[in-house]
Amino acid sequence: MKLLIDKVMQEGIVLDNEVLKVDSFLNHQMDPVLMQEIGREFARLFAGQSITKVLTIESSGIAPGIMTALALNVRLIFARKRKSLTLTEDIFVEKVYSFTKQETNEITVSRKFLAPGDKVLIVDDFLANGEAAFGLARIVEQAGAEVAGIGIVIEKSFQPGRRVLTKAGYRVESLVRVASLAGGKIELV
Ligand code: G4P
Ligand code: NA
Ligand code: NA
Repeated sequence: MKLLIDKVMQEGIVLDNEVLKVDSFLNHQMDPVLMQEIGREFARLFAGQSITKVLTIESSGIAPGIMTALALNVRLIFARKRKSLTLTEDIFVEKVYSFTKQETNEITVSRKFLAPGDKVLIVDDFLANGEAAFGLARIVEQAGAEVAGIGIVIEKSFQPGRRVLTKAGYRVESLVRVASLAGGKIELV
């Protein structure tokens, strides 16, 4: 995805040698043309997998998630990080620890939206330690559904997420793989 790689290289800002700020096209201001391309690319990568649902987590996963769901012609579910006042029905709950933020969040999905027989594509904006993706995968498994794969917009390959998820047997497809942010310089794999 040349368009995405160009944006990362031209507009990405490195913080503390390990965080990539992409507020100009992914995490704050968003570029809809780029987002559509991202959705189409995940749909292409996972074509033939009979995906029935896309699953992401609020908030930054929603944009790439909805474009992927559109391209696959299925629904998007986003896991919530806070308990919703109107979410009175039965929910799947998993704990997700964030190393970046040093806090544990409970993520929830209504039991209404996942069922045995679903083949679920998990999508997220960043892969760092893999905790969020793993929590989403555990929710899919709680539902008796199947994880068809994990699609990541930007993978930080110098952190353990990919290794942890592939070791657990999941197929991980990342559109951009960042090898290093050391010295404030973005190096791709
Ligand atoms: P993990 O799930 O892979 O273990 O990641 P981690 O807990 O470390 O990440 C916590 C949050 O920080 C996540 O967003 C994740 O997307 C984001 N993040 C991690 N590394 C980077 C990075 O290098 N650049 C940017 N821009 N974000 C990063 P979140 O807290 O769930 O927030 P949001 O989705 O509401 O924005
Ligand atoms: Na995120
Ligand atoms: Na984020």
